[in-house]
Amino acid sequence: MGTAVTTQDKNLLPIEDAWEDFVAGRYKEGKDESEYRVYDEGTNPGVAAFYRENHLKQTLAFVLDKEKEYYALNKGERSIWEAAEYLNTLVDESDPDTDLSQIEHLMQTSEAIRRDGHPRWMVLAGFMHDLGKCLCLYGEPQWAVVGDTFPVGCAYSDKIVFPEYFKANPDYQVPELQTKYGIYEPNCGLDKVHMSWGHDGYIAHVVRDYMPEPALYMLRYHSFYAAHRQGAYQHLMSQHDIEMFEWVKKFNPYDLYSKGHTKPDVQALRPYYEDLIAEFFPAKLRW
Ligand SMILES: [Fe+2]
Ligand SMILES: [Fe+2]
Repeated sequence: MGTAVTTQDKNLLPIEDAWEDFVAGRYKEGKDESEYRVYDEGTNPGVAAFYRENHLKQTLAFVLDKEKEYYALNKGERSIWEAAEYLNTLVDESDPDTDLSQIEHLMQTSEAIRRDGHPRWMVLAGFMHDLGKCLCLYGEPQWAVVGDTFPVGCAYSDKIVFPEYFKANPDYQVPELQTKYGIYEPNCGLDKVHMSWGHDGYIAHVVRDYMPEPALYMLRYHSFYAAHRQGAYQHLMSQHDIEMFEWVKKFNPYDLYSKGHTKPDVQALRPYYEDLIAEFFPAKLRW
């Protein structure tokens, strides 16, 4: 596994951290909807700039292009553990005390799930949920890797963060992509819906043959805040999606609020995770 971190890779980290703090604040534990802080460019300039670019560039055509490229799974073969170590090359070593490494974030999430006595597949989903961020190491810009995800090819919900930035998206000028249903049918089911491109869809695709369905929902939709936190896009969801989203909702607090607990001892925990991985996955997967 390579250990070099290029300047471009490092660029991910500030916005990623800013974004994670931002969502944790936006969806603070115990907050009721009326108490959500109002975010604007003035209070969160970095996050605002990130979403300005994300909302501008995540077009239907861009998403279809990335699905075609990455769903072919021709970026090599790696085990899950190797993928986690590969992702860990994104660590910003200039500040090791305050920042969690990627693996530490994954393990904090999965260990919190384990402590609460959830099934083994859910612990594993916690450990894997951000492995798709290796898209950054393939050279994808951060606006195509992290941040809230949302459907493309239909009207944007005003529940998506910074909805006003969508006015700059070329799809905004295409009337057939801006109706309520756009290119989709009412309640067609989310598996027919193209989501903005990011780490969620990619990892869910990589592991689609190996994990139980609720785990795949957790992986695929964990950044779809407009739906799992705000209840948007139910008109595209099937009854089955709505039921499965209970799992996505169950997962979300572990992603957001496990930060700040003690740092997991990665090497001590490794045998447990190697066993868990072996229970579900072959030695190598195509990425
Ligand atoms: Fe994530
Ligand atoms: Fe995460």
